[in-house]
Amino acid sequence: MKTRQLGTSGLAVSELGFGCMGLSHGYGPATNEKDAIAVIQKAYELGTTFFDTAEVYGQGANEQLLGKALHHVRDKVIIATKFGFQNGRNTDGLNSRPERIRQVAENSLRYLQTDYIDLFYQHRVDPDVPVEDVAGTVKDLIAEGKVKHFGMSEAGVQSIRRAHAVQPVAALQSEYSMFWREPENEIIPLLQELGIGFVPFSPLGKGFLTGKMNANTEFDKTDWRNVMPRFSKENREANKTIVDLVTKIATEQNATPAQIALAWLLAQKPWIAPIPGTTKMSRLEENIGGADLTLSDDDLAEINKALDNITLQGERYPAILAGLQGK
Ligand SMILES: NC(=O)c1ccc[n+]([C@@H]2O[C@H](COP(=O)([O-])OP(=O)(O)OC[C@H]3O[C@@H](n4cnc5c(N)ncnc54)[C@H](OP(=O)(O)O)[C@@H]3O)[C@@H](O)[C@H]2O)c1
Repeated sequence: MKTRQLGTSGLAVSELGFGCMGLSHGYGPATNEKDAIAVIQKAYELGTTFFDTAEVYGQGANEQLLGKALHHVRDKVIIATKFGFQNGRNTDGLNSRPERIRQVAENSLRYLQTDYIDLFYQHRVDPDVPVEDVAGTVKDLIAEGKVKHFGMSEAGVQSIRRAHAVQPVAALQSEYSMFWREPENEIIPLLQELGIGFVPFSPLGKGFLTGKMNANTEFDKTDWRNVMPRFSKENREANKTIVDLVTKIATEQNATPAQIALAWLLAQKPWIAPIPGTTKMSRLEENIGGADLTLSDDDLAEINKALDNITLQGERYPAILAGLQGK
């Protein structure tokens, strides 16, 4: 797999990373440890060098999986993790106070079996803590050698500018896919201006763009998609126009819908590195295959024209999480 630079930070990663969240958190019961480690190690064997986790993905459980899976190749991989919630639970509210950031860093280092974190993201902007204090704390951790690069997630224009003035932001991780194109308005131009890399999360639209999901799909009762308006039965039915589009392009390109979704993201900017997630070995290989697919300018123009004509239904987050959307 080819390598990409995340902006001007000097941080180089495989062009497709691997999102580890679903192995422990978010989409139903956690995968058993043996299988989860096998998937992470397979991603590495297939050329992935960029792995994404967070404290909140199972209160450290996901970081521990990564530590077990990759400690023997630690110097060959880039590990990104995130701080910013109280008690390591996104239901307990935000907390990016300096002492909490430091506590998360120490826990993450232990769980990941490492003495440095390559990329330490603030998971969500905390309205109670000036972003300068957050950036300043990460700057100190960088000076101490515990962290290599600073990142933000779902942050808005003003927060990114303010933080970047204190400690350069290497990467922004926010949702971006054919299913959520809002970053194209203000965020992508800002990242281009500041030389910040972009790591799109949920690049497969949380699975929707793969065509393996429809209005009849039943989610496990612990799956967050049950409470996401965009994933209500009615909205899945209403939004199937985008699945039809991606499936049509996939057939034309002799690829799968997941591969089209990833190739489309990779084609947007050379400093974008998406992080698809899966709990399944076969899907891992399929997704990584998306990096081999190049969409021509004509293909992209045609796809974007079709996307512009689709109005997607449903908010992406429920009201309980709405306060966590970027400012
Ligand atoms: N910063 C943030 O706030 C934030 C938020 C969300 C996610 N993330 C990060 O981004 C990563 C990826 O996002 P995500 O997991 O939300 O969404 P995603 O990668 O867009 O989609 C994952 C979903 O798609 C399914 N899937 C994956 N490959 C597939 C394929 N080839 N065919 C059919 N289904 C497929 C997976 O199910 P199976 O497991 O059954 O394959 C899973 O349900 C996460 O792991 C996490 O690291 C960050």
